[in-house]
Amino acid sequence: MREILETLEQSAFSEIDEANTQKTLEELRVKFLGRNGTLASVLKGLAALPPSERPLVGQKANALKGKIQAEIDDKLRHLAEEGHSESGSQDLTLPGVFWEEGGIHPLSRVIREIEDIFISLGFRAVEGPEIETEYYNFDALNIPKSHPSREAFDTFYLACPGGDSEQARDDKWLLRSQTSTVQIRVMEKEKPPLRIIAPGRVFRPDAVDASHSFMFHQVEGLWVDRDVRFSDLKGVLTLFSQDFFGSQTKTRFRPHYFPFTEPSAEMDIACLLCHGKGCRVCRQKGWVEVLGAGMVHPNVFRAVGVDPRHARGFAFGMGVERLAMLKYGIDDIRLFYENDVRFLRQFA
Ligand code: PHE
Repeated sequence: MREILETLEQSAFSEIDEANTQKTLEELRVKFLGRNGTLASVLKGLAALPPSERPLVGQKANALKGKIQAEIDDKLRHLAEEGHSESGSQDLTLPGVFWEEGGIHPLSRVIREIEDIFISLGFRAVEGPEIETEYYNFDALNIPKSHPSREAFDTFYLACPGGDSEQARDDKWLLRSQTSTVQIRVMEKEKPPLRIIAPGRVFRPDAVDASHSFMFHQVEGLWVDRDVRFSDLKGVLTLFSQDFFGSQTKTRFRPHYFPFTEPSAEMDIACLLCHGKGCRVCRQKGWVEVLGAGMVHPNVFRAVGVDPRHARGFAFGMGVERLAMLKYGIDDIRLFYENDVRFLRQFA
């Protein structure tokens, strides 16, 4: 009988040792310890033993039952741990999960830079609406009714978006073609002294090519006090150019005409892309026009109820895309709007 128990122990232990799933272990438990299992049938044989031997063999059989159960439990725990460490283990050769970091769009970056320079000169940044009326885009800016920029091929006119209000009916609505509208909007509310810049989008029905877009950005500037001079205009804009493009930057002021400034000028920058040789951006001229400027016209002051005898100042408007193209050597304006990450990533 003892031998039978020993053989049973041996075979149970080796089978448990080999088992490597929970299911096999459960089957082994039934096989050895179950109601009709091996141990049970051995115990049935107890009856055939002489009464004096029964207690000892019974004890051994019970002890073996405990041992087998403990061995199965052990093995189950072991399997569970192995499973855990398997799912928790890391494959360090996997590429990993990561998110691409976004960047600031080059146009936003340039607008911020322009703002920083003018803020350091005491200017304040403001905004105005992109949908405007003819009054703010033309009339108040001393632009005559006959001016060609009022033509439909130079300005996007809108079907009245202002509804049935009196102003909406009296005025034609449009997408502003210049940020000079903000000069009027600011001076209607605040009287000089004033020093503001106004960045924003403007719209013109131009055919799109390497240097034109139907939508682009401008930064408007206005400095009005009692005695701001043309020399201040030149000084501030030269300072700006050298701060923005580097101290070696060449600029030139050409006489020009704007209805809302008198005298007026355009400022050019020596093309930083081709260094004056001529290329696609400067259209073979070697210089690129970056802004228009001039002394605020008395009629503009009158339009906002400021007495031109007591106010003098200058205004300017610069093209953000042009500044960005020159600064970063970009030869096609369309790149700004195409959302191609290969382009944008270079400025992140
Ligand atoms: N508004 C003019 C333009 O869009 C630029 C400008 C602004 C010129 C202010 C003079 C003064 O071309």
